[in-house]
Amino acid sequence: MSGKLNVLFVCLGNICRSPTAQAVFEMKVRQAFLSEFVSVDSCGTAAYHINEPPDKRAVQAANKRNYVMAHLRGRQLSESDFLEFHYILAMDKANLENILLLKPKHCLAEIALFLGFDNSNPEAEVPDPYYGASDGFERVLDLIESASDAFMIHIKKEHNL
Ligand code: 4NP
Repeated sequence: MSGKLNVLFVCLGNICRSPTAQAVFEMKVRQAFLSEFVSVDSCGTAAYHINEPPDKRAVQAANKRNYVMAHLRGRQLSESDFLEFHYILAMDKANLENILLLKPKHCLAEIALFLGFDNSNPEAEVPDPYYGASDGFERVLDLIESASDAFMIHIKKEHNL
């Protein structure tokens, strides 16, 4: 385990929502000059898109807001993630349930819904945009940007960053 605070974003396929959250939160970490202290990753509960780049619609929407996703490839949640990461943040309730089913007893990570850190909107889940229209990806970004700001405030306070 690195000495950093390790944050893992989790969705179903790891090609739409969680890589978007990774790209957005990586940018927030850089902007806060915290790259030395915080590391960010993402994965999916399913194995559908291992080693694939993020969905083109997600990349296009993210790039329009200057987030970089070119370095990201799909991977599946693994047992070692439960030991490596301090925060395991689910995009929706089904993801959260699946993560909790796999959680080993000795896992110390905080496992939660990502949007639970954000009091500024009533949504609990980042809706799955995969089968929907492209404006779904804008909504995903809006929710993730807002939750990223809220989560950044949380970790700065909790970990004296
Ligand atoms: P994600 O979206 O969980 O946000 O990456 C999905 C991507 C792929 C599938 C479902 C959701 N799929 O069924 O292949």
